[in-house]
Amino acid sequence: MIERPRRNRKIKPIRDMVSETYLSAHHFIYPLFLKSGSQKQEDISSMPGISRFNLEGLLFEIESCLELGLNSFALFPCIEDLKKDKIASESYNPQNIYLNSFREIKKRFPELCLISDVAMDPYSTDGHDGLVKENKIVNDETLEILGKMALAQAEAGADIIAPSDMMDGRVGYLRSTLDESNFKEVSIMSYTAKYASAFYGPFREALNSAPKFGDKKTYQMDYKNRVEALREARLDVAEGADFLMVKPALSYLDIISDLKNNFDLPIAAYNVSGEYAMVKAAAQKGWIDEGKIIAEILYSIKRAGASVILTYFAKQALKDKII
Ligand code: PBG
Repeated sequence: MIERPRRNRKIKPIRDMVSETYLSAHHFIYPLFLKSGSQKQEDISSMPGISRFNLEGLLFEIESCLELGLNSFALFPCIEDLKKDKIASESYNPQNIYLNSFREIKKRFPELCLISDVAMDPYSTDGHDGLVKENKIVNDETLEILGKMALAQAEAGADIIAPSDMMDGRVGYLRSTLDESNFKEVSIMSYTAKYASAFYGPFREALNSAPKFGDKKTYQMDYKNRVEALREARLDVAEGADFLMVKPALSYLDIISDLKNNFDLPIAAYNVSGEYAMVKAAAQKGWIDEGKIIAEILYSIKRAGASVILTYFAKQALKDKII
């Protein structure tokens, strides 16, 4: 035998030498859930280890993440039902809990990176990402609402806005809205290939944001499709996106790899709530080795081509030195 691949695996220093994938705190974005009220922290039953925080609790949580080298956060708001309406008007009320928290966080920790979510669902009585008219999600009228929302977020200090709504043309619309108001330096991380997925279940529990009728299949992508992700990516690039995101991550490693190989923008992957919940549930039963599973999952997403991973495991992975 001339070739013996096992020689490069024989001892750990050699395995480390030839390792092809590198992962550190810099590659993580930690999603955080914000709530109103005086209770600092509330558990989310389907996401053990993840909480909804009020502003005070959130500042405390962020501080403990910064100590671990985790510097980037994607914030999601849990809005009280009585503040929701058809047009998600609370989303651009400058005094809403979300925008207030942005200003407070940026004041306390000016060096961190804050990523805002642009979509109507947390604020909408319909629980859809876009405006509902006669049981249809209307595209172009939604853009106007998203524009107001993104502008309010930029004003409150968002470094990156992340449209997760999947309306057509929203990246271009948001780019020009931001530019016209002189927010030329605010980045756009587009949820480029966001699939209509059952893996979002626990997140919708966390935000109480499940759709009140139907599903999201007229705007989110069909999980049977691969080439269509290239089309979405082509449009987002042309419209001025700074990052292309694939979501969920684990069942979509092929899509991550396709975007990485076909475009020159950094790829983000969202390791979503259902992917998190499955690992936690099996670990609680003692059926899997949690730490090893988490490492394998995170490295596989990175190996597939993601530059950055949004993951609920970020803090645990750093704290427990899993990666
Ligand atoms: C909605 C949104 C969703 C997630 C992020 N933004 C859910 C959905 O589209 O219904 C899911 C994230 C997760 O499951 O962790 N704009």
